[in-house]
Amino acid sequence: MSTRLDSLGDWQRTHDCGTLTAEQLGERVILMGWVSTRRDHGGVIFVDLRDRGGVTQVVFNPQHSPDAHARAEALRNEFVVAVHGIVERRPAGMVNPRLPTGKVEVNCDRVRLLNESRPVPFQLDDTVDLGEETRLRYRYLDLRRPRMQGNLALRHQCYRATRGFLDGEGFLEVETPFLIRSTPEGARDFLVPSRVHPGRFFALPQSPQTYKQLLMVSGFDRYYQIVRCFRDEDLRADRQPEFTQIDIEMSFVDEERVIDLAERLTRSLFSEVSGVSLPDPFPRISYQEAMDRFGCDRPDLRFGLELVDLMEAARASDFGIFRSVVDSGGQVKGINAKGYSHLPRSQIDGLIAFAQEQGAKGLSWIRHTDRGLESSIVKYFPRASQDLLIEALASEPGDLLLLVADAPGAVARVLGALRLELAERFELAADSWCPLWVDRFPLLEPDPDADGYQAVHHPFTAPLPEDVEALDEDPALVRARAYDLVINGDEIAGGSIRIHESGLQNRLFQLLSISDQEAREKFGFLLEALEHGAPPHGGIAFGFDRLVAMLAGEDSIRDVIAFPKTNKAVGLMEDAPGPVDAPQLRELGIRLR
Ligand code: AMO
Repeated sequence: MSTRLDSLGDWQRTHDCGTLTAEQLGERVILMGWVSTRRDHGGVIFVDLRDRGGVTQVVFNPQHSPDAHARAEALRNEFVVAVHGIVERRPAGMVNPRLPTGKVEVNCDRVRLLNESRPVPFQLDDTVDLGEETRLRYRYLDLRRPRMQGNLALRHQCYRATRGFLDGEGFLEVETPFLIRSTPEGARDFLVPSRVHPGRFFALPQSPQTYKQLLMVSGFDRYYQIVRCFRDEDLRADRQPEFTQIDIEMSFVDEERVIDLAERLTRSLFSEVSGVSLPDPFPRISYQEAMDRFGCDRPDLRFGLELVDLMEAARASDFGIFRSVVDSGGQVKGINAKGYSHLPRSQIDGLIAFAQEQGAKGLSWIRHTDRGLESSIVKYFPRASQDLLIEALASEPGDLLLLVADAPGAVARVLGALRLELAERFELAADSWCPLWVDRFPLLEPDPDADGYQAVHHPFTAPLPEDVEALDEDPALVRARAYDLVINGDEIAGGSIRIHESGLQNRLFQLLSISDQEAREKFGFLLEALEHGAPPHGGIAFGFDRLVAMLAGEDSIRDVIAFPKTNKAVGLMEDAPGPVDAPQLRELGIRLR
């Protein structure tokens, strides 16, 4: 009689629960796993046994083995068992074509209980729609579900394909420290107090940015790392406080080489992991064009609904609101919601409310019907200005025109958001993959908290050579040698060519209102390294979790991370962060207020 404490002895797994097919008919096998379901069919008991490989049906027939059958009666969901038995063909009518093992079953003659389970708080199949709180509280059970097992297996494939590709391209994987001095990526740092040096703190890296640049100075001209990054920022479905990057840096390159490498890596991941072939090359547009045409710097190209300049039509109109916006240097733009002229007033009101939530003062709309343009504002548009509207928006009878007049930033924000909203409400996104490079971002933007500038990417990003002179005259006009990879409206990767010359780096720090002393204190090591033969270099980092979520068809990156935080940045299962006791704080020289 075996007990649960006995070693497994000659009970050694011969197969996992996903492998048995008609090829093993007649073989004796040993399977181990969890009882997924147990059904008692008038004497004969059927158990679906589950492990990482899949599910196999195990049959306990009292005629065949009274002892195994008696033990099977005591089995409950999620009990852990080992079964000995013969692979047999399922009787006609019991074949399950949806299961790889669906043609066979294991006729069990010996069963061993390896462990019991408390009744589980939720059903572990993929059909139940669970609240995320419950899933994260019992993550170890949630991860037992086939969907999550599949997601983590896919994540593994992505690590493997990434390493394989970059190894083939001559890249070296190098680890960089987690306990560092702050790197500026624009978020708040997580801090770690030093016990040895009371009053001093390490920061956790927001990315390995400075280290990968130092590795270029050291001559490791092709570096990569699949690395955890830490950012204390507001969370969303696509953001975690700790997340993973495929971090890449290359020497002796310009943006074309980095973009080419990143593009081939993306194509190879999609094709190797999901059998998807992405376009070659990916289209590329400038930041300015992205803002003009889509009102956002990460456009989703699976649908049209582009933003159209309507200044000419506005000037030719008598519409006071439009005219005054034009006169005060604002913009008038519109979207043609093709084929939606029939939209009922209540739904148009919904769109107006949505636009107002985005900060719009209003949203004008015009129906294009067989009788021409129809709306309460059409009377302000003389024939010529109507023709201009129709021409600019390529409007036809049946279309609905949505117009916004405001300062350029507000127009882009409102119409950019409205574009996404329309696509979502009317399910307009094509079932396709639309990668896109956006480049030539502004180098600097006004700092909302101070009277100066802040870096759009990070302070080590190089300006376009033809714009360097404008650094003195009008820094806001300077464009960066920066590029983002966007797929279906998600920012998947971002990078830049770096400043490899200390004079220019110092100039940038000045523009960012970082004093000489502060620059020396915070980035002295980098400035010094740049003075010791830094090669031209640049790189990129992929949001690995976002990439995997995309390939897995998941909306949230939490579904492809084994133990994620909630969107309130807590670990629900382990209850982290938690308090620490007084002696530990004392040792660190910290007193809580
Ligand atoms: P960046 O800050 O653009 O660049 O980050 C690169 C990519 O990382 C992903 N990402 C995130 N994913 C999940 N949760 C987050 N909180 C989060 N923040 C960013 C995005 C993003 O495109 N050092 C530079 C790269 C470089 O210049 O080489 C950097 O970190 O997909």
